[in-house]
Amino acid sequence: MLGRVNHIAIAVPDLAAATSTYRDTLGARVSQAQALPEHGVTVVFVELPNTKVELLEPLGPDSPISAFLEKNPSGGMHHICYEVDDIVAARDTLKAAGARVLGDGNPKTGAHGKPVLFLHPKDFNGTLVELEQL
Ligand code: CO
Repeated sequence: MLGRVNHIAIAVPDLAAATSTYRDTLGARVSQAQALPEHGVTVVFVELPNTKVELLEPLGPDSPISAFLEKNPSGGMHHICYEVDDIVAARDTLKAAGARVLGDGNPKTGAHGKPVLFLHPKDFNGTLVELEQL
C-alpha cells in the first residue's frame, strides 16, 4: 500500500524563523509561504533531494496544530506523509483493519492539490500519518 515518503511535517511557532533556518543555515531550497485556510495552517516546503519537509504554522483561531504547539512550544515533528496509489482503497483496507481515519473519513484536497487523509496517531505508534494519492 505504501509508496514513497512524500513529506515529513514539522509544526513551528515562527514560520519565518524556521524558514530562515532551513534556507540560510542549512542551505536548503524553500518554497514561498502558502496559506491553507481549509487546513488551518500556513506551510513552507523545504525541497530535499529525496523528499520534502513541510513547515507548518497555525493559521486562524481553530488551527488543528495549535494544541500540538501548546504541548510542544518550540515545535516538533507533527506527521509523516506516505504516498499511495489509491487513497479510497487504502482507506477501506485500513478501516477494515480497525484503524481510525480522522475527520469525516473522506479525502480532502491537500497542500499539493492532491487528495489526502489523516490516520489516528494512536493506531500508528503515536505518529500522525497522512496519506496522499499522487
Ligand atoms: Co502534510
